[in-house]
Amino acid sequence: FAFTPANQEWAEAQITKYPPGRQASAIIPLLWRAQEQEGWLSRPAIEHVCEMLDMAFIRGLEVATFYFMFQLQPVGRVAHVQVCGTTSCMICGAEDLIAVCKEEIAPRPHQLSASGDFSWEEVECLGACANAPMAQIGKDYYEDLTADILRDLLRRMAAGEVPQPGPQSARFASEPM
Ligand code: FES
Repeated sequence: FAFTPANQEWAEAQITKYPPGRQASAIIPLLWRAQEQEGWLSRPAIEHVCEMLDMAFIRGLEVATFYFMFQLQPVGRVAHVQVCGTTSCMICGAEDLIAVCKEEIAPRPHQLSASGDFSWEEVECLGACANAPMAQIGKDYYEDLTADILRDLLRRMAAGEVPQPGPQSARFASEPM
């Protein structure tokens, strides 16, 4: 792994923002940039970032495995789908959304779909509980989902559309008083 010249320059600039001896504090932005460049975080990418920060690989791996925004396996070309499975979403139908992921993407989390377009996993609360159930698809939140709505979103995305993120049902439409 190597950063592109532009990313390498950016990463070196980040490191200078921290006091001498504290360069390890730049670990999260550098890992994030490596993931943005490659689509996921490979072991060589983590090793490269750790070398830049003069820190042990195991410490970089600890950070990369702690946060679920870091993907340690290849993800779908179009999007990685993170279905919230915590209480509010679970009560409101997360299991139906996971069933759609199993049908439409792959039977097991972190597997790529046959087309390579999508991958999925179940994650903990994403902080949008009021609009449960929800999923983060790529970088966007899609909320107030049903199985049919999620299936439709995936099919539209596979066809190149970028559906409007946010609540997906009409329950937020203003009603006559
Ligand atoms: Fe699903 Fe919080 S419980 S977003």
